[in-house]
Amino acid sequence: MSLLGILDRVADKATFDKAIGPAQRAVQAALRPQALRDLLHGTWLGHPLHPILVQVPVGSWTSAGLLDAIPRMRPAATVLIGTGVAVAVPAAMSGAADWSEQGIGVRRLGLLHAAGNTVALGLYVGSLVARARGRGGLGRVLSYAGLGIASGSAAIGGHMSYAQSSGASHAATAARALSSDWIDLGPLDDLPEGRPALRTGKGGSVDVPLAVVRRGTKVDAFIGACSHLSGPLYEGSVEQVRGTDCLVCPWHGSAFDLDDGQPRRGPAANPQDKLEIRMQAGRVMARLPGRDR
Ligand code: FES
Repeated sequence: MSLLGILDRVADKATFDKAIGPAQRAVQAALRPQALRDLLHGTWLGHPLHPILVQVPVGSWTSAGLLDAIPRMRPAATVLIGTGVAVAVPAAMSGAADWSEQGIGVRRLGLLHAAGNTVALGLYVGSLVARARGRGGLGRVLSYAGLGIASGSAAIGGHMSYAQSSGASHAATAARALSSDWIDLGPLDDLPEGRPALRTGKGGSVDVPLAVVRRGTKVDAFIGACSHLSGPLYEGSVEQVRGTDCLVCPWHGSAFDLDDGQPRRGPAANPQDKLEIRMQAGRVMARLPGRDR
């Protein structure tokens, strides 16, 4: 078994599930204002915020490790360590917000990831204190120990993204399976008014669910799997969110602007893939834009 394959075993273990539930509720209670959660998810950005923020501590601490090896550069290393510590706090908050809205396998590994990062952060804070007290040797020992643990924890975070698709757009994955042909969604009059309907497009040998909304003569069609965790958008609702008509996911309440698919409310941070529409003899035709023109 590969080293990171062991993490899949960990993700299957229910050993710490009793701690995960209360931790999840505590995070959700602490981040209760929806606007704060959306800020931390990256909903406003149309991209998960956590992987962007973590670049700062990872880059700063790695660079500090190199500069610490050069005696005259050690003051610069201390500045970099302080920068990493300062940004690690909002990065951790962003990660916690995402973690609290993920499936159980991701939450299990996420607990390990968070524990590693907390230890690493503590070591770096200890390193700053030691350096401030003139104990540079101890400060370097603590920061190198922090770098080792932070690197291991980053590998776990990478596994959560690459192997467990945490933060990935599940809609984009479904969209890649869709063929480039125009899809016949049936007569306009068969679509219900103001609520999503299920239609399907061809994706090789499988059907790709689509969520189709009719507002008068206007039709909006989206990949049916929610970008957050593949929730069935065709079983959702149409609601006004922040002044715009949105398609709302029935699983965790993410809202996507019907006009452009951008997330207007999280936990989704990725947009929902939208199909282009044309009418043909009273029938609604759709396909993903940019395909096989
Ligand atoms: S699957 Fe989570 S909001 Fe849609």
